[in-house]
Amino acid sequence: MPRKKFIEEDSNSSDDGSKSVPGRRLFRVFRLLSSPNASKSHRVKKNGRSFIPSDGLRDERLESMHLYYSNFVAPVDDDLARGIKVLDVGCGGGGWLMDMASDYPNSEFVGTDIVDLFLKHGTPPQNCKFMLANTVKGLPFEDNTFDFVHQRSVLLLMVFDFSPSDWATAMKEMIRVTKPGGWIQITEGDIIIERSGPLMKRFLEAAEAISKSRGVDVRVVRNLGSLFSSLDNVEVDCVSCPTGWQDKWGDMALQNLLGFVKATRAGVMPILNITDKEFEDMVSKMAQECKEYKSLGSLPYAFGQKKRA
Ligand SMILES: C[S@@+](CC[C@H](N)C(=O)[O-])C[C@H]1O[C@@H](n2cnc3c(N)ncnc32)[C@H](O)[C@@H]1O
Repeated sequence: MPRKKFIEEDSNSSDDGSKSVPGRRLFRVFRLLSSPNASKSHRVKKNGRSFIPSDGLRDERLESMHLYYSNFVAPVDDDLARGIKVLDVGCGGGGWLMDMASDYPNSEFVGTDIVDLFLKHGTPPQNCKFMLANTVKGLPFEDNTFDFVHQRSVLLLMVFDFSPSDWATAMKEMIRVTKPGGWIQITEGDIIIERSGPLMKRFLEAAEAISKSRGVDVRVVRNLGSLFSSLDNVEVDCVSCPTGWQDKWGDMALQNLLGFVKATRAGVMPILNITDKEFEDMVSKMAQECKEYKSLGSLPYAFGQKKRA
């Protein structure tokens, strides 16, 4: 799906008259991806540093993330229709790949991930393959292989799981395998929640404290431009997303956020010094808070073109 559809609404005011962050755009999802074969079990290879466990909650999160975002913003629609090589780094269940491979049958799609969650969305089309690969350890492709390299909702996880030098290496790898003149796009989620209530604030502080204690920096997603400094025609922006209010997309954004909160349970509970029961109560109260405060999630993205030789 091309850019026009990614941002469906370009406005600072919502249906009920409340204001979003000036200069930012609200966007809505317009396509649902059904996954009749979705499975609750998958393997997640630990790198020893993750504080997000490999359980069903993470699985649901991946699902809703696909529903939450659209497919691309980089100006590659005509190239995709004509037929190009596309890489999706950290592809998870492959929802993006399946969708894109069906929409653009002339293009070839490859997905990589450190875990094999592929096939979660059913049998892939013939123009779509999966390979196990840790981006930080090096992508298993020659230099200048792909016309479009895409990564969605991976960096934040990497921020929690990897050091700043690891994610710099990952970006270098993505640039290396992109052809001169090819495009790279990163779409992320941030742990900033604007207009958040007191419980959400407390949770976000705890999540940030965990990251700090592990020597990683969650703010990297707020500075995607620095990762794209060697590229041409860079666009860096951030969209605000109603979370828990406005419409069904707001409800979906809330489910996505709560999935993240639940996934961090083991790390966050000791910091907040709360019991299981108190954690459960906190999560349901956070949902109410988001509605009450009209909270806004933050979705940074960037794309750019590799310099021609
Ligand atoms: C939140 S999921 C997003 C999946 C998919 N991009 C999407 O938007 O639906 C993050 C994915 O990044 C993968 N991941 C994290 N670190 C990675 C690394 N170093 N190399 C490859 N994949 C990685 C995880 O295994 C997980 O599948």
